Amino acid sequence: MNNIDAITNLYTRKERSLQGEQARFDRERENKHILLSFAKSIQERDIVTYDHSRRVATYAQRLARYVGWSRRDARDLALAALVHDLGKTWIANDILHKADTLSDGERKTMERHPLIGARILIGCDVHPFYVETVLYHHEAWDGRGYPSGLKGEEIPLNARILTVADVYDVLTSQRPYKAALSKDAARGRLLSGSGASFDPMIAHAFLNLLDSQPQFTLPQRICAIPSIAKTAYHVASSVRL
Ligand SMILES: [Fe+2]
Repeated sequence: MNNIDAITNLYTRKERSLQGEQARFDRERENKHILLSFAKSIQERDIVTYDHSRRVATYAQRLARYVGWSRRDARDLALAALVHDLGKTWIANDILHKADTLSDGERKTMERHPLIGARILIGCDVHPFYVETVLYHHEAWDGRGYPSGLKGEEIPLNARILTVADVYDVLTSQRPYKAALSKDAARGRLLSGSGASFDPMIAHAFLNLLDSQPQFTLPQRICAIPSIAKTAYHVASSVRL
């Protein structure tokens, strides 16, 4: 191979690598565009879920950074978190906004939302990272979650991080069927769920993060507020996640 051939080869390889970089960049931009469009559709459909998702995205991003993820990976997890409840946009209002405890049938319908969300994302050909985060965000460390009953490290790490962020926000938010827990009470619930609902390493990382930042909990903007009596009743019952 003479010098000219060697230089030509070098440039061809460089050009291919740049094309590969460009393709990856285009794909990422397209994914981001799709996911933000879905986030917007959640905002229009259900503002409470949208606000919840924004807070969860922030918590998940902070937690991912805390356990050593790169800025870019943590940002991708935040994007997934923004649409983690996308499947709820297909759940009927009388179930989605029900202030009373769900019946078994209604609960089963509600529990389809990770699967529905994942199917929507698969249909748009987004990166599997986002699909699996949405699909597995209600799996539990002890295998008692849904939709697949995955256990321990079978659950992708991205979903395990999201689960803790998601539950913390549910616990500290007021919902039509429950009052908000204080930071300390929510802390206690995460601790007791460590090793059962949550990956113990991730749950403890979150608790350390929580303890290190007094202003960690984000304010809740709005929520459909039930009557005081209903709130008092539901605060004593189990939390629907
Ligand atoms: Fe969810």
